[in-house]
Amino acid sequence: MTERTLVLVKPDGVSRKLIGEVLARIERKGLDIVALELRTVDRETAAQHYAEHDGKPFFESLLEFITSGPVLSAVVEGPRAIAAWRQLAGGTDPVEKATPGTIRGDFGLETQFNLVHGSDSPESSAREIKLWFPNL
Ligand code: TYD
Ligand code: MG
Repeated sequence: MTERTLVLVKPDGVSRKLIGEVLARIERKGLDIVALELRTVDRETAAQHYAEHDGKPFFESLLEFITSGPVLSAVVEGPRAIAAWRQLAGGTDPVEKATPGTIRGDFGLETQFNLVHGSDSPESSAREIKLWFPNL
């Protein structure tokens, strides 16, 4: 069953020049990149993207971080793309949860600066793709 997921390379990943590394891993896995854009998002878009975390202690710093510089957004497609991409990304905490061999496990140290995002369900994926790529 083909699925689509939203992938982000967050401002830390972009400034650390990991866009190529991330896209290479997506392509090597066999997933298709069907849309790609680099832009700095406004606070409103960021708040909608992370709406599920509104009210949590890290919400404000998360918004500040995600709007602090350019973000690479991509729509990635393939069989079980949502789970496949989250597997490539690794767990949320780059040290405690992500294992070596994953993007966060290989390149991350702090939860707030964990380099990449992936939708966590078909519902999130549909919502996030509509937010980031309204014309797709
Ligand atoms: P979450 O959706 O739980 O993680 P994931 O990105 O793996 O789906 O959280 C969204 C982002 O919020 C997470 O990537 C990093 C940040 N965050 C923190 O800064 N502190 C925290 O304690 C948590 C849980 C997340
Ligand atoms: Mg999440």
